[in-house]
Amino acid sequence: MQKLAIQGGNCLNGEVRISGAKNAALPILCASLLSGDSLQLANVPDLNDVATMRKLLQQMGVAIAVNGDQVALSAAHIDKLEAPYDMVKTMRAAILVLGPLVARFGEARVSLPGGCAIGSRPVNLHIKGLQAMGAEIHIEHGYIHAQTKRLKGAHICFDLVSVTGTENLMMAATLADGVTVLENAAREPEVVDLAHCLIAMGAKIEGAGSDTITITGVEKLHGASHRVMPDRIESGTFLVAAAATGGNITLTDARADILDNVLEKLHEASTTTWVEGGTINLQMSKRPKAVNVRTSPYPAFPTDMQAQFMALNTIAEGSAMVVETIFENRFMHVQELRRLGAQIDVEGNTAVIKGCAQLDGATIMATDLRASACLVIAGLVAQGETVIDRIYHLDRGYEHIEAKLSALGANIRRLK
Ligand code: UD1
Repeated sequence: MQKLAIQGGNCLNGEVRISGAKNAALPILCASLLSGDSLQLANVPDLNDVATMRKLLQQMGVAIAVNGDQVALSAAHIDKLEAPYDMVKTMRAAILVLGPLVARFGEARVSLPGGCAIGSRPVNLHIKGLQAMGAEIHIEHGYIHAQTKRLKGAHICFDLVSVTGTENLMMAATLADGVTVLENAAREPEVVDLAHCLIAMGAKIEGAGSDTITITGVEKLHGASHRVMPDRIESGTFLVAAAATGGNITLTDARADILDNVLEKLHEASTTTWVEGGTINLQMSKRPKAVNVRTSPYPAFPTDMQAQFMALNTIAEGSAMVVETIFENRFMHVQELRRLGAQIDVEGNTAVIKGCAQLDGATIMATDLRASACLVIAGLVAQGETVIDRIYHLDRGYEHIEAKLSALGANIRRLK
């Protein structure tokens, strides 16, 4: 199993290009299933989750050509309407094939995702929504089996905000008969990016980015070109890493308008940031101040940035409270941070972090994607060597992370 070895203590300085967003690329790749014509994508990140999604789509019969960050997909001949357990268990986002398959082919067989490290993460809202649109759904042998002649438009109000739930039903509704209204929909920028791609394919969608999305179904979608938006979580991760190490970095090909809450928290931590077009600059010359965070659906503070801010707080001046309201088990990085000397108390969904002057390098283990990013940040500031085990989690969601960090001055290498 691969590991990362980091010699802590170097400031991050310089420029780094932000990759395309994982959480936008995954649903957009699935959108290719909605049409027999070709979908041309640019700025698709080179990540393990993206490779897994490509493999899944290829197994179904989608023809895929990759050229650097460009991916062309054609779902003209689909012969298998199934997402098997092996795929869904490695990447929950595989559930995103369900809506498009049922909408275009009237049938799908998708494995139930099961639990994952950060909580039980059910898909009941995806299923309930498709049922409201007229799909007959049976759960058999761990698989969701959905069937219908043609989906019908419906009025669906989500019990709670679900990102992939919103995306699945929005894709399904594009080919349904009539109008679908999604209420209490996710407002995440990745939902908006997917909507832009679907609209380019001929879908009629209004309100993406608000909590009410209206989709008027059409008979057919056609081919289109789309550029995947920049990854706001990768952006946030590099900014926090620079803030924690006391650096001076510039993100290029980034978007500040979708990072408001994160930039505000970085400002509270006493960084200086400024934005010029697609670049975000951050300068930090002192010890960070502790900052409280509370995760919530967009536009509030993202759960995918919680762990990174926890790392920042471990070496900050003062104490901070981090409240996780989205996932029930997303504090697994706490145990590992404690191994580096961090002082953290956890009570339910709240962690209280008392900033200490320094962390000490140790061997630690990554438990999920964003927890891995948190441990990398902690390793960058810790004294001496930190070895992070199970970094395959990191490769699921961060493109060429050690190359990007090395270019910024980090002393980091992969142990094979
Ligand atoms: C997406 C993101 C993930 C991010 C999360 C929250 C992708 C590929 N992943 O995950 O990086 O951390 O949003 O911003 O975009 N829930 C139910 N029933 C459902 C669906 C969800 O109870 O049918 C619950 C979940 O258990 C969780 C909450 O709703 O507690 C939010 O989950 P959701 O927004 O669906 O997360 P994902 O879409 O899986």
